Amino acid sequence: MKSNGVNRTLQAARTQELIYELKVQQAMTTKVITVEPENTMEDLRQILKLHQLSGTPVMNEGDLVGIVSVEDLIRSLLEGNGSEPVKQRMSANFVTLYADEPLVHAVQKFERHGFGRFPVIDRKTKELVGILTKGDIIRCMLQRLEIDFHEQEIRRYKPSDWFAELESDRTTLGLRYLIQGRNFQRAGEASSKLKQNLRTLGIAPEAVRRITIASYEAEMNLVIFTGGGELSAFVEPGKVTITVVDHGPGIPDIERAMQPGYSTAPDWVRELGFGAGMGLPNIKNCSNELKLDSKVGEGTNLQFTVFT
Ligand SMILES: Nc1ncnc2c1ncn2[C@@H]1O[C@H](COP(=O)(O)OP(=O)(O)OP(=O)(O)O)[C@@H](O)[C@H]1O
Ligand SMILES: [Mg+2]
Repeated sequence: MKSNGVNRTLQAARTQELIYELKVQQAMTTKVITVEPENTMEDLRQILKLHQLSGTPVMNEGDLVGIVSVEDLIRSLLEGNGSEPVKQRMSANFVTLYADEPLVHAVQKFERHGFGRFPVIDRKTKELVGILTKGDIIRCMLQRLEIDFHEQEIRRYKPSDWFAELESDRTTLGLRYLIQGRNFQRAGEASSKLKQNLRTLGIAPEAVRRITIASYEAEMNLVIFTGGGELSAFVEPGKVTITVVDHGPGIPDIERAMQPGYSTAPDWVRELGFGAGMGLPNIKNCSNELKLDSKVGEGTNLQFTVFT
């Protein structure tokens, strides 16, 4: 029972925060049904009924000139005046909201003016872009709270927590991807699958980004310069280690290969946009540790680690 009370307080605080965070345009209805000043109150009755509205803006040749509500309609009908024009009954001194205002302004205006709805206009063009009722605000807030709730659930069960719980086991998860040499059609597949899997595992987005860039560069080198090989990832608490192995031709001068701008890529590869000689330097920049071994005629073994 106690935690329930705490939850409710948190929810209330979040609701408060939301009306500052959310903008009018996120809550407003953008499909605005309007009437014209010369429409009759009977026309209005039909329009309100058809669209189940309690009021609508009055537009004259693209200009917002008033607001007319179901209360105006009732008053008019009670006086037996269904044929009088809307312009006779509409309120011409209405209050508008800007689409980019925070919802808190709208809430304040609802309280201050007692109106049921506000036309929303664009701050620059002054054009009508929507309409906002209290119902819209409530609907929008409930949706947001729902989204928050789901995000919390996902966070609560994200698999990276498994590691935290199993720390004493030194749990390691291994992932393997094959890379085909010379196959440009499938180039990038291994690193993009790895990216998906690391995301699913709940690895921090910044670390996933660095791992993905480095893996992509390594994968492209295998596609371009070798007959293919394998990329494997070892996920441990606090780090991910990637090993990329191929079976030749090998790199004759590793120090040189690591230098920015050094490339042996042939012209046709350069035409595809590769061969700037930035792959290996990029991998180095993205990783916290890097080891590159190679033997000409045998193959290359690249290993890099990213702390997560
Ligand atoms: N796995 C590999 N096997 C053989 N040679 C490689 C391998 N990886 C890199 N090299 C050699 O090292 C050079 C530098 O690689 P790096 O990835 O930095 O640049 P690049 O692939 O030529 O150009 P970029 O990566 O900018 O498209 C390559 O041109 C190639 O000669
Ligand atoms: Mg490269």
